[in-house]
Amino acid sequence: MRKSDASHFDFQNSVETGACEQAVNNVKLSTKLSTSATWIGLGGLATGLACIAILAFKSKASTDYSYIRDIAPIVEHRCAQCHSGSGLAAKPLLDSYATVSKYADTIRYMTRARMMPPWTADNRGTCRTWRDSLWLSDAELGKLVGWAEQGAPEGDRTLRADRRVPAEKPRDLERVDAVLDTGADYTPGLGTSAYRCFVADPGLTRERMLTGIRVVSTDPRAVAHIAIYGLDSDDAERQAVGRDTEEAGPGYTCYGSPRVEPAHLLASWTWDNPTLHFPEGTGLRVSPNRKWIVQVLYNVITTGLNTQTRTHIDLKFDDGVRAASFMALRASGIALPPGKNYAEASARFRADAPMTVLGIAPRMHGLGKTMQVDRMRKDGDECAASFDHWNVYGQRLFIYQEPLHLSAGDELRATCIYNTKTAGETVHGGDNITDEACEANLYVVSP
Ligand code: HEC
Repeated sequence: MRKSDASHFDFQNSVETGACEQAVNNVKLSTKLSTSATWIGLGGLATGLACIAILAFKSKASTDYSYIRDIAPIVEHRCAQCHSGSGLAAKPLLDSYATVSKYADTIRYMTRARMMPPWTADNRGTCRTWRDSLWLSDAELGKLVGWAEQGAPEGDRTLRADRRVPAEKPRDLERVDAVLDTGADYTPGLGTSAYRCFVADPGLTRERMLTGIRVVSTDPRAVAHIAIYGLDSDDAERQAVGRDTEEAGPGYTCYGSPRVEPAHLLASWTWDNPTLHFPEGTGLRVSPNRKWIVQVLYNVITTGLNTQTRTHIDLKFDDGVRAASFMALRASGIALPPGKNYAEASARFRADAPMTVLGIAPRMHGLGKTMQVDRMRKDGDECAASFDHWNVYGQRLFIYQEPLHLSAGDELRATCIYNTKTAGETVHGGDNITDEACEANLYVVSP
């Protein structure tokens, strides 16, 4: 980035982010923003987009962008790991001026809407920040949007960009201590058959602390999200095995939960990174001689129908780490009116002892739009997480860069917003595909 760009964007940040936050907080847009010529036409779009549009507007006025200098480095650093021949999203291929410029308008739209790169947790800093985030910086976003608006020029081919940084390779699992195998090929379809629960045995003979997982699939593009559950009783195991044998084919139908009790969440993973490392120095205690459930959400959009996939999960254990657990903020009695652009559910959680929240795994179903977690304070609520462009394919454990400390008596609230336009009747909370959920699973250690 050139020096002038840097100071330009810093300036924008300090001025515009403040205004945007204000607007987000008030929900209504401030007069200053709503009269801005840039996005009068964007009336219905979320405030966040509008704020970004201002950045783009200002940047357009002062900078000429080119693919060679400005865009290629961003695409290589932030998009190529997925949008290349061997990546998760080979379509669209984003690997040259020809391919990227062809998609310039879609890229402008999708990056501005924060739909690409896929990362549903707001990382602006106003609702905390997240480890390994794929979130674009305002400067990167300004360049992508500004370039598209200028007609996606290639620039001078004899010039190279100042600095080209390939995508960081995610840290791999250091070793494999056990393998959790779903045991068979599965051919996912649409609707409920896009979800499947498999009973799998990690083969543990003593108690261990789970500190990391790596998901390995014969077709990695097909597996979008995985939730792993530990079963907590002989009866739960019998129920799970029963469901598996009752249904034809490998595994059994499930959607919002493993459909057996008692069970508890062990991991929430999505395909943006094969490996999930739990927060440094912590792990989840797992019992010997117990089966687990692997719930897989398949994405047939990228693979097409009739693609067979088999998944196994490599597990890493470490002794001597702090024991963490998932605590759920879960809305009960959800009843969302049908046909609405905006329907809301919320859940509260009161810490009965001091605790440290190291991460959050949010969960809603297909009608979910946004989820915000606030710490409720006498002097005003404080945003603890904002998942403001929900995507069921992007569900994962988001890990804080800085932990959130709760004192005894502190309260958290999760507010979930849905769009029920497509629903014909009241949407209730539940495990079926037509039901909804509002759940923030906190990864906590004490204190
Ligand atoms: C972690 C993987 C990943 C990264 C990183 C990523 N994408 Fe994507 N992208 C996908 C997947 C998967 C799809 C297709 C499915 C979907 O739309 O969710 C996709 C789809 C797209 C589409 C097609 C949308 C359409 O409807 O045709 C565009 C354009 C796009 N991405 C642009 C980008 C850009 C630009 C970047 C970098 C700034 C980027 N993506 C980074 C995974 C990724």
